Amino acid sequence: MKERKNVYQLPAGDKTLEWYAKAVLEMKKRPTTDPTSWNYQAAMHGFYAPSPFWQGSAPLPSAADQARFWNQCQHGSWYFLPWHRMYLAYFEQIVGATIVALGGPADWALPYWNYSETTPHARDMPPAFVSPAAPTNGLWMAGRASNSIPARYVTLGALNTIPYTGDGRTSPLGFGGPESVFSHGGSPHGQLESLPHDMVHVAIGGAMGDPRTAGLDPIFWLHHANIDRLWQVWLNMGAHRVNPVKKAWLDFKFEFHDKNRPPVVMTSKDVLDTRTVLTGYTYQGVPAGAPVVAHAMAAAKVANVAEGIQLNERVDASTTLDVVAATNKPNVLSSAKTLAHLDLPGAPRTRLMNFAAFTKEALVPSKPAMSILHFEHITGKGVPPIHDVYINTVENDGNKEAHYAGSLSFFGVEESSVANVHQSGSGQHYALDVTALMDSLKSLPNWNAQRLDISIEPSKPMDANTSVTIGRISLYSE
Ligand code: C2O
Repeated sequence: MKERKNVYQLPAGDKTLEWYAKAVLEMKKRPTTDPTSWNYQAAMHGFYAPSPFWQGSAPLPSAADQARFWNQCQHGSWYFLPWHRMYLAYFEQIVGATIVALGGPADWALPYWNYSETTPHARDMPPAFVSPAAPTNGLWMAGRASNSIPARYVTLGALNTIPYTGDGRTSPLGFGGPESVFSHGGSPHGQLESLPHDMVHVAIGGAMGDPRTAGLDPIFWLHHANIDRLWQVWLNMGAHRVNPVKKAWLDFKFEFHDKNRPPVVMTSKDVLDTRTVLTGYTYQGVPAGAPVVAHAMAAAKVANVAEGIQLNERVDASTTLDVVAATNKPNVLSSAKTLAHLDLPGAPRTRLMNFAAFTKEALVPSKPAMSILHFEHITGKGVPPIHDVYINTVENDGNKEAHYAGSLSFFGVEESSVANVHQSGSGQHYALDVTALMDSLKSLPNWNAQRLDISIEPSKPMDANTSVTIGRISLYSE
């Protein structure tokens, strides 16, 4: 059984990263047609030859092999978590075999990067990936936009999400993504996928900023080990957090290559317990297997307090939502902030109405209506910066952060704007749960039940080669 360790807690003198770097350089020497080569492994996630980050050389695998094994990454789908778990397991096996062939230890395991920790420098990329900044360093990658992730892009509110599946339209948003067939885009990303997953990709930028090149950056694999770990952390929190049980999720077959190169098949059912994935692994400090609910709930509270998040759980996955307002024309984003507004149906202030009767129960404010803000049919070019969304900042009350609704990463926007074998080209879809925000805004003096003002602000200037258009903004409510 391997243990995947926290990269920032590797003991002094530990050689995990040194061997990883050697293996990366070795895998880069292999021909692109070799499934165990660095370029082939990355292309299984995504492949885009015009990218400056693509280093593979001719000959490439046959068109049939490319169609079968490349561009397989599952995003905006309930397969997001299991597919990446399978992908990592075979990658770890291939790196491990490479290390053994180079004379290294037999128990190498992929470390994880927990950027959400509150320890100093947790949000900085581990130094071995940054320096020396030269191609002789197997962990370094040219063209990254940043080596540090802003705090708001690594928060763990996703762990509060109870249902695994859900799309925020007919059902609440899900932790793991909406039910879908084999997919790259079009449906809203799951809560963990949106934040921190997508944000970390775009904040680092360069190859990491685009799913078609992300696997080429050695940090990709430590990022995904952490996302994979958070799946187990979420399960361990218990309280109705469970994986899907539908056969369509459990039995869907994905193909990979093992260390000996022949194709292998895996399903979600094969990766439910990390201890039985290939030779098995666990994460440092995270119990694997069936959660101990009482203890896990306490752990959940600690995790959330550490991140400054209030435990705010929604157990009822059967809640249904309906569209209550939508924009009627697209919004083209620019380096200035983009203002849009929604005309609300002017529903009464339900919180106040609960005080109408003088019974004890009526004095307890009811649960606020679930409200989800959707950004649909997002198309664009390049790797646009993360945009932050605020609601009703026109009130200018000097407390802008109290109006922050969440952020849009646009991770993979260019790929999902172009029709190909895997997707329609209808663009991306992001959804933000604004239930708590709407509830707090309602108590402000200027609350206007007829109108919601939305401000979409770039976290840094957009460069000339990038563009984003949001087809429609809509509000869904209970
Ligand atoms: Cu398939 Cu982090 O992306």
